[in-house]
Amino acid sequence: MSSEEGDKHKIERMDVSTVIEDITARKIFNSRGEETLEVDVTTLAGFGRASAPAGASKGKAEVISYPQGIVDRAIENVANLVAPELIGRNADEQEEIDLLLHEIDGTADFRNLGGNAAYAVSLGTADAAAASHGMSLFEYLAGYFANEIPNPLGNVIGGGKHAHGKTPDIQEFLVLPLKANSFSEAAKANASFHRKVGSFLRKADKSFTNGRGDEGAWAPNIGNEEALEIMSKACEVVSKETGVDCRVGLDIAASSLWSSKEKCYVYPRDRVKRDSEDQIDFISQLVERYNLAYIEDPFHEQDFRSFAQLTKMTGKCLVCGDDLFATNMERLGHGIELGAANAAIIKTNQVGTLTDAWKTTKLAQKAGYTTIMSHRSGETTDTHIAHLSIALHCPIIKTGVIGGTRISKINELIRTEEMLGERAKMATLRL
Ligand code: PGA
Ligand code: ZN
Repeated sequence: MSSEEGDKHKIERMDVSTVIEDITARKIFNSRGEETLEVDVTTLAGFGRASAPAGASKGKAEVISYPQGIVDRAIENVANLVAPELIGRNADEQEEIDLLLHEIDGTADFRNLGGNAAYAVSLGTADAAAASHGMSLFEYLAGYFANEIPNPLGNVIGGGKHAHGKTPDIQEFLVLPLKANSFSEAAKANASFHRKVGSFLRKADKSFTNGRGDEGAWAPNIGNEEALEIMSKACEVVSKETGVDCRVGLDIAASSLWSSKEKCYVYPRDRVKRDSEDQIDFISQLVERYNLAYIEDPFHEQDFRSFAQLTKMTGKCLVCGDDLFATNMERLGHGIELGAANAAIIKTNQVGTLTDAWKTTKLAQKAGYTTIMSHRSGETTDTHIAHLSIALHCPIIKTGVIGGTRISKINELIRTEEMLGERAKMATLRL
C-alpha cells in the first residue's frame, strides 16, 4: 500500500466526530479573584472546556504555571503555538496530544507554554472527546466498569498560607468520613461536621465572625492544639449524630513553616520552633493523641528521610506527600524507594498534562500508595477533578466542604453516584 493509500485508510477508520476544529483560550477569574485561563476545544461533534486552578502553597518541583507569571502570555501561546498544531488532530489521541504539548514547550517544566495552558488544553481536549462520544468524562477515560466513588476529604479549619491574622499555623484541619454507605451520606456528614465546628468556634473564639479561608474552611483566632480539640469533639458528636465514622486529618504544609536559615520549623502563632527531630516527635504525638487518619506534608519538601521515619512509626495513618512529590514521577519514584510515604496527592496542574498525572497515579498505586485527587486553594467551578478521581481510581478526593468552587465537585459526584445507580460503590480505605 502506498503511503497515500495508508493515510486515506487511516482517515476512513478514524472517528471524524472527534477531530479538533478549534481551540481558543480566554482569561477568567478563580475563587481568589486571580486571573486564570480557560480553554475551549471544539470538535466536529462535541465541545469541551477546562480552566486552570492555582496554588497558594505551591511545591518548588511543580511546573511553571505561566510564562514569566503572565496569564496573557499563556493565552497567546494557546492561540499561536498550540491551536495551529492541534487543529485537525483527533481529540481521542490524548497521549499524543499531551506529548505534543511537551514538544511545543520544549522544557522540563513547561516554562515556555505555561503549565496551566498545558493543563487546560489537555483537560479541555479530554472533555471535548468525551462530549463527542456522548459520554461523561470519567466513563470516556476509564470505561463502563469504573464505578468506585471516592471518599471526600474536606477542609474544616484553615490557617497557614490559606488564611491571615491569628489563625492556626497548620494549614488545614480536615475531616474524613469513613464507612459511609454512599457519597451523598459522606458529603452530608462533612457538611454537618463543618457546621458543628462553626458552632464550637463561636464559643471558643469571642472575636470570631464566621471568617473563612481560601478553601471555605473556618479561619478562627485559635492555636493548633485548640483547633485539634475542637475537631476531636466534633468527631464524637457528628459520628454519633450521623452514624458515619468521622476522623481527623491534617495538612501541615510544612514547607511554608520551614526556615532553611534557622534549620527549623517556625510556628509563629504558637511561638514554637521545632528542628527535624522535634517535628517528628510532635507529629507522631498528634497522630496518636488525635487518632489521625491522614497527615499531609508533615515535613518540608526536601526531607524525604523524615517522611520515611514517620511512615515507619505511624502504622495505619495515611502519610501523604503533596509538595514532596508534586505529582512528579521521578520524585515519587525516589520517595517509593525510600519508603517516604504511603499516600500521594494528585494535582494535575502540578505536572501539566492528564497523561503525566495518570502515569504518576499508576506508579503510586503500583507501590501500594493511596492516591488522593485534589483541588487547589484557588479554584474555578470546573468539575473535572470529580471525574478524574473516579477515572484514575483514587479512593479519596480532597476538595473542601463548602463554597461554590468546592461544592461544584461534591455535587458532580452526587450526580455521578445517581447516574451509576446500583453499580455505584464507595471506594474502600485501609484505615
Ligand atoms: P495550594 O495547596 O494552595 O498549593 O493549592 C493546597 C494544599 O497544600 O493541599
Ligand atoms: Zn497540601
